[in-house]
Amino acid sequence: MELAIGEVADRAGVNTSALRFYEKQGLIHSRRSGGNQRRYHRAVLRRVAFIRASQAAGISLDAIGEVLARLGDEEAPPAEVWEEAARTWSADLDERIALLVRMRERLTSCVGCGCLSLRSCHLLNPDDRLASEGGGARRLLHD
Ligand code: FES
Repeated sequence: MELAIGEVADRAGVNTSALRFYEKQGLIHSRRSGGNQRRYHRAVLRRVAFIRASQAAGISLDAIGEVLARLGDEEAPPAEVWEEAARTWSADLDERIALLVRMRERLTSCVGCGCLSLRSCHLLNPDDRLASEGGGARRLLHD
């Protein structure tokens, strides 16, 4: 049984404009009826749930599309596909969180400073390049 766009919108809890957008992005697919109306396979409901859950976790439409592109156009993402995507994206989020924590630590060190020194500001010299060369007056040693 195929579904009209309004039925999909009601059951999936999204606007019809969102469905048209997802379709334009290649995330879902429809065929046209004799009256040129969109008709969706029932699998679209789980695809939309996959998209909404992924977006709620901050995943980009490009990344979502990469996963859905591995499936047939009218194939619902099985539990294993969602589980694998969630595990991969969770690890990506962990990396991004760790990066953000490091950025916050560097920025916090600037609070109340204002020097913007190329040598000592942790944002402008994040790796403290001279420090990695060892102790002493490294700039003088280079000269
Ligand atoms: S502004 Fe002084 S440490 Fe960044």
